[in-house]
Amino acid sequence: MIRTRPNGSNNVAGNEHPLVELSHVEKHFGKLHVLKDINLKVGKGEVLVVVGPSGSGKSTMCRTINRLETIDSGTIRIDGQLLPQEGKDLANLRAEVGMVFQQFNLFANKTILENVTLAPVKVRHMDKKEANDLGMDLLARVGVELQANKMPSQLSGGQQQRVAIARALAMKPKIMLFDEPTSALDPEMVNEVLEVMINLASEGMTMICVTHEMGFARKAADNIVFMADGRILEKGTPDEFFDHPKTDRARDFLSKILTH
Ligand SMILES: Nc1ncnc2c1ncn2[C@@H]1O[C@H](COP(=O)(O)OP(=O)(O)O)[C@@H](O)[C@H]1O
Ligand SMILES: [Mg+2]
Repeated sequence: MIRTRPNGSNNVAGNEHPLVELSHVEKHFGKLHVLKDINLKVGKGEVLVVVGPSGSGKSTMCRTINRLETIDSGTIRIDGQLLPQEGKDLANLRAEVGMVFQQFNLFANKTILENVTLAPVKVRHMDKKEANDLGMDLLARVGVELQANKMPSQLSGGQQQRVAIARALAMKPKIMLFDEPTSALDPEMVNEVLEVMINLASEGMTMICVTHEMGFARKAADNIVFMADGRILEKGTPDEFFDHPKTDRARDFLSKILTH
């Protein structure tokens, strides 16, 4: 699919640094070697889809990018800046990376609008009125503006996940990470969430998406990364990956997920 990007480019332009760059990243959980020499560049406006069998390190890799997990060695840069170890610098850089998980984890005792405005008010010190306007805009963008004053439990799973996306966008992140955002949803709600993600992609958002939704991957991804056993085994366009996988591991994976 050809998408028009506001910046006119899907790739890392000649002298522009990648928005996300992982270089020789290694990570262990005790004796378990979960990330092995991960090298990855994601350009501004690029949509990268990460696929691979369960346990291959996809979630861990995402979590290292906003430092929910530390790494043993290697470097991670966001927009050219080394990911800080801790403190205010880390909080600032982390705010540039929006994350949406399988479990949407909205605050149960806050309204939908409050869920979206909380971080801009607390972290960005935005005034209430401005935050509410931003919140309503974002809720409209994901199609749940009519639910603004309801509590999360009154919304469907698909609606809650769309609120979680709006909440992440409220921090005006430079990049959005999605870790299996539709895996916990009833099947009839998957598409409404994918549509929001496809719209975001077409608006030029830089995105890293771990997903098993291969239709989405074909449609929205600029590049696909295939991980297995903590390594990136393949990276290519959707056509390259789906039609001409290079490794037995990827062929095996595709035969299992595409036959149903
Ligand atoms: N906090 C943790 N402590 C110990 N092991 C973990 C932890 N998180 C993940 N793992 C292990 O690391 C490996 C990679 O996990 P994960 O990144 O969740 O893979 P994926 O998202 O591809 O399914 C798995 O073997 C998993 O059991
Ligand atoms: Mg995972």
